Amino acid sequence: MKSVAAFSALLASVLARPQGYETPAPAPGPAYFQVLSARSASPIHFRPLQANGGKFWLGGTPSGYCPVEVVGNATCEQYPGNQTTLAGGFGTLSLGVVVPGGQQVYIAPDGRMSYTTAHSAYVPEGSVRDGWSRTFREDPTDPLGSLAFEGGLIACPDPADQYNPWAVYGQTANFTAPSADCLVFSSITTNETDAGAWQY
Ligand SMILES: *[C@@H]1O[C@H](CO)[C@@H](O)[C@H](O)[C@H]1NC(C)=O
Ligand SMILES: *[C@@H]1O[C@H](CO)[C@@H](O)[C@H](O)[C@H]1NC(C)=O
Ligand SMILES: *[C@@H]1O[C@H](CO)[C@@H](O)[C@H](O)[C@H]1NC(C)=O
Ligand SMILES: *[C@@H]1O[C@H](CO)[C@@H](O)[C@H](O)[C@H]1NC(C)=O
Repeated sequence: MKSVAAFSALLASVLARPQGYETPAPAPGPAYFQVLSARSASPIHFRPLQANGGKFWLGGTPSGYCPVEVVGNATCEQYPGNQTTLAGGFGTLSLGVVVPGGQQVYIAPDGRMSYTTAHSAYVPEGSVRDGWSRTFREDPTDPLGSLAFEGGLIACPDPADQYNPWAVYGQTANFTAPSADCLVFSSITTNETDAGAWQY
């Protein structure tokens, strides 16, 4: 897995290149990916998308967990769970986890971008599971791409401190932003070769 510094360096090199050469997604592959938000001149420019406590945030840390008594230290060391990795993104989206059954991403009825608990497929009635798409650069060796949700993603600050993690929402049909301070952002992806956590 890449460090945040490596990700940032990669991003800087890509941003230096000309824009406007994205193409529709090739056939879905097995790759995992991480997401960084982009909203220039805002407190949420280049924040990692983090899975914590059943919901997604921009910034902060993920709630990665590994049952070391069950699966052993060697396995847990392979999945430190300190970065948020996703999978899919072609229609539906999942977390990049190893736990049997996986963990699916959904937009809750209040718009909150959420994910299922390990060992459960439960999603509240009225949630939206699809509407995700990924695009890639024309250069097949370029590991950066974009993730989009139909209607867009929007993040809302902690009223106490905008530097705390921002809550992420998907703008579904009836979505109303919880505050006037929320900001729409776009999502930069970088391919990863492995799951990021046993579970989040
Ligand atoms: C990135 O992942 C996508 C989806 O799995 C794949 O199509 C693409 O070839 C990968 N790009 C690189 C540079 O690995
Ligand atoms: C796993 O590693 C931790 C820290 O290195 C150690 O304290 C613990 O005893 C190890 N557990 C097992 C089951 O090997
Ligand atoms: C995550 O943990 C691994 C193993 O301890 C470490 O090598 C890596 O630098 C950490 N990454 C981040 C982003 O903290
Ligand atoms: C949106 O609101 C309308 C009118 O209240 C309702 O009929 C519809 O089912 C809602 N759609 C969603 C996706 O919640």
